[in-house]
Amino acid sequence: MDKQILILRGDGIGPEIMDQAIRVLHTIGETFGHSFHLTDGLIGGAAIDEAGTPLPEETIEKAKSSDAVLLGAVGGPKWDQNPSNLRPERGLLGIRKALDLYANLRPVKGFKTLTDASPLKREVIEGSDLLIVRELTGGLYFGRPSERRDNGNVVVDTLHYTKNEMTRIIKKAFESAELRSKKLTSVDKANVLESSKMWREIVETESKNYPDVTVEHVLVDACAMKLITSPKDFDTIVTENMFGDILSDEASVLTGSLGMLPSASLAENGVGLYEPAHGSAPDIAGQNIANPIAMILSAAMMLRHSFNLDAEATAIERAVEQAVNNGYHTKDLQVEGGTCLSTTDMTDQIIKQITKE
Ligand SMILES: NC(=O)c1ccc[n+]([C@@H]2O[C@H](COP(=O)([O-])OP(=O)(O)OC[C@H]3O[C@@H](n4cnc5c(N)ncnc54)[C@H](O)[C@@H]3O)[C@@H](O)[C@H]2O)c1
Repeated sequence: MDKQILILRGDGIGPEIMDQAIRVLHTIGETFGHSFHLTDGLIGGAAIDEAGTPLPEETIEKAKSSDAVLLGAVGGPKWDQNPSNLRPERGLLGIRKALDLYANLRPVKGFKTLTDASPLKREVIEGSDLLIVRELTGGLYFGRPSERRDNGNVVVDTLHYTKNEMTRIIKKAFESAELRSKKLTSVDKANVLESSKMWREIVETESKNYPDVTVEHVLVDACAMKLITSPKDFDTIVTENMFGDILSDEASVLTGSLGMLPSASLAENGVGLYEPAHGSAPDIAGQNIANPIAMILSAAMMLRHSFNLDAEATAIERAVEQAVNNGYHTKDLQVEGGTCLSTTDMTDQIIKQITKE
């Protein structure tokens, strides 16, 4: 199989973890007989520095003519004081909108040997395995431009959703739940927000089309609490943009580190974008200590969701699990014993497992 992949390294640890995902992809290509053609593009702070904008038009064009996009992370203190149109995060929001990446899938699965890396009790998290389906192109982050009024004394952010935007993500979540344990938790704030009331109505209507999926509604504040007190109660969670953003970072605690969580952002019939759930971690950039696993697992999600290469994706996931179960980990994971490795050495262990299979 021949595939074109746009590589957006971004900022902070983005370039160094991306290099590791590329090494893994080359190994998969050699092992399974595929050719992955990689093209580089600019996004985020790196794009601001080189092209004067966080998302050059050229990057959007390259993305649209690729089969998939792999993204490291964007942002950092260097650009924190920039005006909002020159913030790295604008690049990220912009590419999600330009490619209409409405569905963000974030699997959260703990590894046995990392159970004690979480600050939560072993008996609470052991065996937790869930999928967060987050709406990605609507809601508060994409409302009318935020504004300050009345001499800066009043601020307005707008939460905007269309029925279609809600319906397509809710359908995606039902489809995802059907492939898992057929339990869907819809998270909203229907006791306060009109948007959440409409969300709940759509979930109820759509549930009739998926009779084998059990649905429950949970308010976002209760969900935040239950996610860390009884995570095993959840399987597939669906929610709107901002709630999903917050809950998925919270869920990373179950795995021991943000550095373990991959994500896929999917369009209806277009290019998918794959990136770790974490940010650019400027505090550890350039030290070869970042955890490459979230980035590598994002590449695995790309193989599965964009290229239909399920065996290849599984080979990566198994290799990661095996390397971790062999006691190898990076510095972010606070585990007793085992061997703490650099970014590149951790990847070596994962590659070793792929070539062994
Ligand atoms: N998708 C994205 O590109 C994205 C997402 C979130 C934040 N950001 C941006 O990233 C920058 C830093 O934000 P932040 O510090 O709030 O979040 P962050 O996710 O970058 O870092 C939070 C903490 O987790 C650690 N961490 C994150 N990924 C890690 C990894 N792979 N290995 C080891 N440790 C890891 C960091 O060292 C830090 O201590 C900001 O500019 C923010 O806007 C970007």
